[in-house]
Amino acid sequence: MKRTHYCGEITESDIGSEVTVFGWVQRQRDLGQLIFIDLRDRTGIIQLSFDDSTDREVFDKAWRMRSEYVAAARGIVMKRASVNPEIPTGSVEIKVSELRLLAQSETTPFEIVRDSDVKEDLRLKYRYLDLRRPEMQEAIILRSKIVKTVRDYFDDNGFIEIETPILIKSTPEGARDYLVPSRVHNGSFFALPQSPQLYKQLLMVSGFDRYYQVARCFRDEDLRADRQPEFTQVDIEMSFVDENDIMTVNEGLVKLLMKKYCNVDISLPLRRITYKEAMERYGSDKPDTRFGLELIDLAGELQGCGFKVFSSALEAGGSVKAINVKGAAAVLTRKEIDKLTAWVKDYGAKGIAFTRVTDDARSSSFEKFLTDEEVGRINSKTGCETGDVLLIIADADPKVVSASLGALRCELARRLGLIPQGTFDLLWVTEFPLFEYDRETGEYSAMHHPFTAPMEEDIALLDSDIGSVRARAFDLVINGNEAGGGSVRINDTALQAKMFEKLGFTDEDANARFGFLIDAFKYGAPPHGGMAYGLDRVVMIMLGRESIRDVIAFPKVASSAELMSGAPDTVDKEQLDELGIMLKPDKE
Ligand code: AMO
Repeated sequence: MKRTHYCGEITESDIGSEVTVFGWVQRQRDLGQLIFIDLRDRTGIIQLSFDDSTDREVFDKAWRMRSEYVAAARGIVMKRASVNPEIPTGSVEIKVSELRLLAQSETTPFEIVRDSDVKEDLRLKYRYLDLRRPEMQEAIILRSKIVKTVRDYFDDNGFIEIETPILIKSTPEGARDYLVPSRVHNGSFFALPQSPQLYKQLLMVSGFDRYYQVARCFRDEDLRADRQPEFTQVDIEMSFVDENDIMTVNEGLVKLLMKKYCNVDISLPLRRITYKEAMERYGSDKPDTRFGLELIDLAGELQGCGFKVFSSALEAGGSVKAINVKGAAAVLTRKEIDKLTAWVKDYGAKGIAFTRVTDDARSSSFEKFLTDEEVGRINSKTGCETGDVLLIIADADPKVVSASLGALRCELARRLGLIPQGTFDLLWVTEFPLFEYDRETGEYSAMHHPFTAPMEEDIALLDSDIGSVRARAFDLVINGNEAGGGSVRINDTALQAKMFEKLGFTDEDANARFGFLIDAFKYGAPPHGGMAYGLDRVVMIMLGRESIRDVIAFPKVASSAELMSGAPDTVDKEQLDELGIMLKPDKE
C-alpha cells in the first residue's frame, strides 16, 4: 500500500475517490455492527468506518485495533452521517476496504491528546509520545517553517550561511563553558561554543561581509523557563555597517515573521529606548511595556525624611521607588501585600512599604513616620488616591530596587490580569553600559562581551569614569523577553587593547585567550557588527508558549538533565583512562 493522502488533508472534494492513509489509532469505538477508528498523523485525524458491508476479515482487524497502534487503511471517501464540527475533516470519513496493522502499541503512560494535564517530567521522559500530541507537532512544525523563512530572508539580503566549529578553544563569554576532553592531547580540552562570536568576527576579517548561521550554542548556566543549556541562535554579522544598519536589516526580518506567523502588522522603525530609561521606568533592561505600573522615583520627595528605611537608603547612594497599583485596594489586601513582601525577598529587597487606601480606611506602613507635607508630596508625585495601593521599595543598592520593583510590576500585572493577550510589544533597548560593576568583587566586567565598541562620545570616559561608558549595543525585546542582542564591534587594535586592560586582562591573559583574534585584527579588520536572536525564545513568544521547552523537540530540565535518555551519565573507566581523566572521589 502507498499513501495517497495525509489524514488531515481529506476534504469533501475527495468524496467518491479511493484514498490510502497511514497513521496512529487515536481511538477505536466498537458499536457492535459498526466500528469507528480515528486515525491520526501529523496533519490531523480522519474517521475510518466499518459496517456490516465491510469484509469480515477487515472488520475483525478493525475490532482488534487499539489506541496508538500503527495502521494503514484504503477505502472510499464518503460524506459522514453525523458531522463532527470539532475537526476539519469532520464532514467526511473513509469506508475502509483494506486495513493493515503495521505495529502494535503498549498502553501509553499518558493519553495522546491536546491540552494534556500530565506532569511535564513524565511528558519529557516519554518525549517521543509527547511529541505526538497536536500542540507539540504544531510547535515543532512551525519552528521549522520559521527557520526556513529566516534562511530565505538572509539569503535574499545577500547573507552567506557559514558553519563555525562546535569544538573550540575555551574563551568563556559570561556563562560557564561545557568542556570536552581531548583524547589525542591528553589534559587539553575543547569547549562547546557559547556563541559563534569570535568566528563570525573572523569571517568579517576574511571578507565574507554578510554572514548568518542557525547556530547551536552551549552555556552551563542556571536554567529558567526561558533558558536552556543548549539552545539555538540565529546569528548574523555584517561589515561596513553601523548600529542603525544592523537594526534595520533585523527589523525587516521581525516584521516579516510577525506578519507571516502571527498575522500582526508591525510598524517600523521599532521604538527605541535607552537602557537608562528602561531601568528608570521599568526596572528592567527588557521591559514589558504592554502595561503601565511604571516605577516612580521618590528620591526628591524623601531626602532627609523621618523614616530611616527611606532616608538611610538615599544617604547611602541608593534609591526609593514606588509603584502605584491603581484601583487595586480591593484585591491587594494586607495579606496579599505580606505575600508579595516575602516574594520580593528573592530579588534582594528587604521589604515593601505600602499605603492602601480603601473607601473607608487608609492603612500605611510608613506614613506615621513622615510629615503631612512629605505624605502629600508622595501622593501628588504618585497620583495615589482612594482605591489605590502604593508599594515602595528602598535600598542602599539601586540595582536591588530596580530588580525587585521591576519583577514586582510584572508579577502584579500577571496576577491582576493587566497583560493584554495576543498583542506584541517590540522595542530596542540601546546604549547599554559597556561595563558591569560587581559590588561584591569590586571589579568591572564586560556587560555584553569584550569586543563591543564603546559609544564614540564616551571613549574619553574610559580613563575617568568607566562605569558611565555606554556601549554601541542593543537588545531586541518582545513582550518583556530578550529576544536578541548585538553590537558594533571594536575594530581598532589599540582600542581593543585598552578594553582588555580595563577588564583587568594582562597582555598575556588576553593573548592566551583571544590571541588569534588579536592577530587577525592586525591584517585589516573591517568595521563590523552583528547580532544574535535566541531562536527558541522567538518561536516561544510567537506561539504564545510559556516555556522554551515547549518549542524544542528534546529539551533539558532545570537540572540540565535530559530525562528521556538519562544524559548526562557516567562513562566506563576505559573511556576515562583513554582521556587521562581520574575522577575526584567526592565528585563521583
Ligand atoms: P547573547 O548572549 O545576548 O549575545 O545571546 C543572544 C540571544 O540568545 C538567547 N539566549 C538564550 N536562549 C536560550 N537559552 C539560553 N541559555 C540563552 N542565552 C542566550 C537570547 C539572547 O538575546 N554573540 C552575542 C550576539 C552578538 O553580539 O552578535 C551573544 O551571544 O535570546
